[in-house]
Amino acid sequence: MATIENISQMRDKFPALRQKVHGKDLIYFDNGATAQKPDSVLSLLNEMNSGTNGNIHRAVHELSAKCTSLYESARITIKDFINAHSTEEIIFTSGTTASINLVANSFTTKFIAKGDTIIICEADHHSNIVPWQMACERSGAILKILPIDENGEWMMDKLESLIDESVKIISVAHISNVLGIANPVEKLIKIAHKVGAKVLLDGAQGIVHENIDVKKLDCDFYAFSGHKLYGPTGTGVLYGKREILEDMGPWMGGGDMVESVSLFKTSYAPPPLKFEAGTPNFIGAAALGEAINFVQQFDREFIRDQEYALTTSLLEGLKSIDGVKIYGESKHKLPIYSFNIEGVHHSDLAMLLDKMGVAVRSGMMCCEPLMTRFHTTGMVRASLLPYNTIEEIDLFITAVQKAVKMLK
Ligand code: ALA
Repeated sequence: MATIENISQMRDKFPALRQKVHGKDLIYFDNGATAQKPDSVLSLLNEMNSGTNGNIHRAVHELSAKCTSLYESARITIKDFINAHSTEEIIFTSGTTASINLVANSFTTKFIAKGDTIIICEADHHSNIVPWQMACERSGAILKILPIDENGEWMMDKLESLIDESVKIISVAHISNVLGIANPVEKLIKIAHKVGAKVLLDGAQGIVHENIDVKKLDCDFYAFSGHKLYGPTGTGVLYGKREILEDMGPWMGGGDMVESVSLFKTSYAPPPLKFEAGTPNFIGAAALGEAINFVQQFDREFIRDQEYALTTSLLEGLKSIDGVKIYGESKHKLPIYSFNIEGVHHSDLAMLLDKMGVAVRSGMMCCEPLMTRFHTTGMVRASLLPYNTIEEIDLFITAVQKAVKMLK
């Protein structure tokens, strides 16, 4: 059970949650955009930036060896966290966007030809739309779209009609950053694999709210960011099945991704280094490993109970507001709610909430096609993590009501 003791124990680790904004105690409900960082992550960042700093894989000196070890240990932590087969399947990137772009480039170059099909979803983030449009422009492949219904759920019956042997990859969000719905990815993966199509899951939100087991999911790629998972910005991961990564060429060339280089020809290192050209963000990667160690200190059941309590309480609170329209109603909801209030502009509401110390996101949330689908120019989003509390939700709802009165 989620208890007040272990929630406050968790909150205590986050200095950012203790600050005041505009003179008010901060209520941080913009976790879908980025999470705050616990002490242990901050201290490792500080320790490495202020001393334990030597470029990895490249030197025999002590600082380089220490950093290499921290970097590679983080890779093991991540492998275990998502239950990958081996560390060769864990590629460090700068975030979800870079992970998706890597696949959209390398996989497309090797496996996609003119007339093939790539499928994405209309609810997806721009980072899972634009790279595939670019891949289609380069390869001559056709982009097809999985639609969503009025509640924001995937229209699985439509998927059946989009799928045939021309589909080479389906790239979709595990959990929508706007709708907060956990999509039926297991079902989609089975359907895709029947025709030999690969599946990439954009796990930017999924990694935060679900237990990820890539073996059980059987996804071919899983992409996520570190900064939404209590880790540093500029960090991320691409998980890929080893046999696919081995067949894919590199995306970027440079140091550390090679086996041998002559002036006219290069042979590449095996994965994951083949995809990690140049000096990586090794301090960030080590700190991402620390963030995962932090998450793993908390009982999974505690996290699940707390997320459930926040999800139901937030829904109840929002529904009590006159004229509210909530986007994405599903029994597979996480504590991410986007909404609008009749007669109130999303930006005005978010600005007034900020003055009351409440941080939410507003606007298109990098999902313009989804906004078009729901005939709106933007929404307000409250996205919570287990360190948020029911008391904060009550204060948030009171603040929304107050702001609405001022705006109407
Ligand atoms: N993709 C992030 C969000 O949904 C930035 O806010």
